[in-house]
Amino acid sequence: MAEEKQTATLIFGNKKLEFPMYSPTAGPDVIDIRKLYAEGDVFTYDPSYTSTASCESTITFIDGDKGELLYRGYPIEELAEKSHFLEVCYLLLYGDLPTAAQLEDFEDRVTRHTMLHEQMQYFFRGFRRDAHPMATMVGVVGAMSAFYHDSTDIGDPWQREVAAIRMIAKMPTIAAWAYKYSLGQPFVYPRNDLDYASNFLRMCFAVPCEEYEVNPILSRAMDRIFTLHADHEQNASTSTVRLAGSSGANPFACIAAGIACLWGPAHGGANQACLEMLREIGTVDRIPEFIKRAKDKDDPFRLMGFGHRVYKNFDPRAQVMKESADEVLSLMGIENNETLQVAKELERIALEDEYFIDKKLYPNVDFYSGIILDAMGFPTSMFTPIFAVSRTVGWISQWKEMIVDPSQRIGRPRQLYVGAARRGYVEVENR
Ligand code: SDX
Repeated sequence: MAEEKQTATLIFGNKKLEFPMYSPTAGPDVIDIRKLYAEGDVFTYDPSYTSTASCESTITFIDGDKGELLYRGYPIEELAEKSHFLEVCYLLLYGDLPTAAQLEDFEDRVTRHTMLHEQMQYFFRGFRRDAHPMATMVGVVGAMSAFYHDSTDIGDPWQREVAAIRMIAKMPTIAAWAYKYSLGQPFVYPRNDLDYASNFLRMCFAVPCEEYEVNPILSRAMDRIFTLHADHEQNASTSTVRLAGSSGANPFACIAAGIACLWGPAHGGANQACLEMLREIGTVDRIPEFIKRAKDKDDPFRLMGFGHRVYKNFDPRAQVMKESADEVLSLMGIENNETLQVAKELERIALEDEYFIDKKLYPNVDFYSGIILDAMGFPTSMFTPIFAVSRTVGWISQWKEMIVDPSQRIGRPRQLYVGAARRGYVEVENR
């Protein structure tokens, strides 16, 4: 537990209550209000948890004012430049960067779990071909407990470890097969001689009729996208995984719940919505029309890929993604990509507009990622599944942390009830 530094006093009615305060490694101090209801007979009210810490964690830290993101203390910019996704997975899961031997063992364990139980193919075939891949992923991942029952006992540390490795290893296969199924193409099996990102690209784009050569520029960009999306404190989908896990649900069911939450356009679905918005804008001269709509209170339109609950300065992931978009598109000879030009001009105009400045709205991780994924050949429907492949390591790391946290019990928020007071039943003839 963080160190208790001082106490907070709450005075209301005839009550004066003292609460311990803790100072974290970084970020705001917290007030421990666990005894508030028992001693004060009142609840706090924080409907979207803007001021509420739901847990103690050692995994990821965000400083929204500084635009800082740390995975186990390491800045995301350094990891994106110097590390690679499976090393980042090890860091998030176990807390430290691995030695060469530890990394080799970890990569080998993940590689040997990339295949899916052959019978799971029937799940894919039960969906319509035009099903959104996220629908397929929710269904297939939720069904994994039926096939990997030997890693569902959350009380067994070894089974938790196996479930974590299986989830990280199998998500690329599930996402790639959801994509192949939507195309009506045969499933491509993982290869043990390819790295994680290259394996994913090959499973998505190879066909049995010819050899597929992985483009090293694209596999490096894919690996970097995985690193940038891996974890992000207690975001909506991670909080969903933790809440599902607090009931004792098996890890596969918890990850399926996280995938479902990530799908929303306010969260992981924003990358798909953002590219579709950029395409709808189409050309730079139409940007003012959309900026106007984004500022119009009566128009539900929002600038997708902009804004964030925590970042009130730039999102460091967006910065890395923007550099990567420039690099990938120019190496692919499509630097004059119209969508990229629209994105850059939209960012420039928005960041000079007082509405966005006042509300501290900056591009987030979803603003540029879609441009790279589109250039790689992915349809927009595959953008959020790719986010889910990456975030699985964050979800499972946070889930593991929650399971062994002695302060964690089943999550059960209270409410501010403003419904009808008690009343008697009225027969239908008297209504
Ligand atoms: C992710 O939490 C995480 O860490 C998430 C994530 C992760 O890695 O897990 O970072 C991934 O989900 C990134 C966010 C992707 N979503 C989008 O890009 C969708 C567009 N953005 C918005 O919907 C919004 O900014 C949110 C959902 C991201 C944040 O919403 P908040 O914190 O609830 O902020 P808000 O909706 O209260 O907005 C504050 C004000 C509002 O105006 P007022 O009511 O104060 O007048 O800013 C306005 C909003 O109308 N606003 C926008 C806007 N985002 C907020 N106006 C125009 N365009 C936008 N994009």
